[in-house]
Amino acid sequence: MTDTKTALVTGANKGIGYEIAAGLGALGWSVGVGARDRTRRDDAVARLIDRGVDAFAVPLDVTDDGSVGAAADLLTERSGRLDALVNNAGITGGVPQEPTSIDLDIIRTVVETNVLGVIRVTNAMLPLLRRAASPRIVNMSSGVGSLTRQSGSVGELTTGPVAGAYSPSKTFLNAVMIQYVRELADTNILINAACPGFVATDLNGFRGVRTPEQGAATAIRLATLPDGGPTGGFFEDAGVIPW
Ligand SMILES: NC(=O)c1ccc[n+]([C@@H]2O[C@H](COP(=O)([O-])OP(=O)(O)OC[C@H]3O[C@@H](n4cnc5c(N)ncnc54)[C@H](OP(=O)(O)O)[C@@H]3O)[C@@H](O)[C@H]2O)c1
Repeated sequence: MTDTKTALVTGANKGIGYEIAAGLGALGWSVGVGARDRTRRDDAVARLIDRGVDAFAVPLDVTDDGSVGAAADLLTERSGRLDALVNNAGITGGVPQEPTSIDLDIIRTVVETNVLGVIRVTNAMLPLLRRAASPRIVNMSSGVGSLTRQSGSVGELTTGPVAGAYSPSKTFLNAVMIQYVRELADTNILINAACPGFVATDLNGFRGVRTPEQGAATAIRLATLPDGGPTGGFFEDAGVIPW
């Protein structure tokens, strides 16, 4: 086993996940680029290696048990442990998503990726995380998952459009995270949720106002927290986000 720290970033072939991989790589980490499409995955790994990152490909579809199990096997073989898992892969389910008319299959699809996908990947990677000295789990959530912000109970912050699948999926994800924090309270695994802000990526047709690099910053900070750092928190660049 080496001193080099290893991270797995899901959905790392583009957008914020790619920049999380680049940022961890710049800190000297070895980074598994979790991505479901072979061409997009290999292209991202090649671009990261060009940037000097010790990147390697991890075939990974977070909705597929077999794929996730194979990813855990690959990491077991390659590094024998996992220092940080960044659950970044996510989808919106598209528009429209008004709850009064939404197709229930959209909710199922979004929850399958944004919530069950995180649970599936986290549980498969836990044995590897437990072998690390200072394991970290970061869930890429969103401020639109904040019930406080969605209900407008903080100032003017009724953030994002009405979305019957995407926003609740991030609220669900945050709620599930807290149950992990409770169950794993007697371990040294620090588990936190990050919001990247409104970032210009494929996810929103590049309408976001922040760069993917800016969006990656909070997740990188949480993946590299020192021992004794926070756990069970919900953070953006500016600080703590209300639940
Ligand atoms: N952009 C924003 O303003 C914003 C704001 C708040 C939170 N977020 C969150 O940040 C995370 C990253 O979003 P982004 O903006 O960077 O979006 P993005 O550019 O669309 O990237 C999403 C990534 O997730 C991957 N993915 C989707 N489904 C997957 C699956 N089943 N298995 C494996 N990978 C899968 C995509 O892979 P493919 O290329 O194969 O589709 C892609 O790599 C998401 O969780 C999102 O909800 C984004």
